[in-house]
Amino acid sequence: MPVEELDDKVILTNPNDSSSKVTILKYGATIISWENKGEEKLWLSKAAKLDGSKPVRGGIPLVFPIFGKQKDSNHPTSKLPQHGFARNNTWEFLGQTNESPIIVQFGLGPENLSEETRQLWPFDFTLILTISLDDNKLNTTIEVENSGKQEFEFNWLFHTYYKVEDITDVLVSNLIDQNCFDQLIGESYIEKAPAISFHEEFDRIYKNINESKIIQVIDKGKVLYNLKRNNLPDSVVWNPWIKKSEGMGDFEPKTGYHNMVCVEPGHVNSMVLLPPGEKWIGEQEISIGGEIKVQSNIY
Ligand code: BG6
Repeated sequence: MPVEELDDKVILTNPNDSSSKVTILKYGATIISWENKGEEKLWLSKAAKLDGSKPVRGGIPLVFPIFGKQKDSNHPTSKLPQHGFARNNTWEFLGQTNESPIIVQFGLGPENLSEETRQLWPFDFTLILTISLDDNKLNTTIEVENSGKQEFEFNWLFHTYYKVEDITDVLVSNLIDQNCFDQLIGESYIEKAPAISFHEEFDRIYKNINESKIIQVIDKGKVLYNLKRNNLPDSVVWNPWIKKSEGMGDFEPKTGYHNMVCVEPGHVNSMVLLPPGEKWIGEQEISIGGEIKVQSNIY
């Protein structure tokens, strides 16, 4: 069956290749697994809560309407928890819209939120998440609609946890000369590394990356993932390394930081202002393999 709906999750199977599957938890509309030709591509913590008691540690959690914690105490998002409420509320499964590639949609609106969350962010909105699974490709598109009478501001981010064999062999490319904000030291600067490598905790927001740039995750010279973005100008790159992983109760095994890297496309450096009746769309497309593509002026 290409689309199987269970109580708490939906499983998609590529009609052209039954060894390619995606599992989406209704809680947070979190993609918790993407198997491509039988190989898992997303990292999921062994201690991730999948019972709706806590955002999922791993897969692709959805961040809306605030990335991190709002620093301005007068902003309407200031009372919301870290990374907002999209990742810790249960979305509605709206059904399948295409057979091949297989496409499904999930929706979230105020009616799906707890009364408590409604009080924290009282706007009318509709979120539609579209997930498309194709051969060697996974596409996630978010549409945010302001269905109320007041404008609102939001961040969006796909918090994608990629699975890798060993982080010390991994490079993330095509971010050279990009302005970035280093969350660990609280400073902005221009990235000068031709490719990012990892040997300690890493937490940077790369800002306003040209849409033509394809961010690649490369392992020992082999392209693992190509990340294309549409209307998602920023990208967070994160690895918690040793100490931070130890501090996260739902991060297991504690050596798991070796096997993951987050490359998270979003709109987080600034907020999107959405007037009543308007829609905004952002998209990430992940494809597997192919050639290294150098998009910089270093050579
Ligand atoms: C990343 C942030 O996007 O998410 C990090 O840049 C943060 O600062 C990480 O630690 C995980 O956040 P959380 O809320 O899932 O623990």
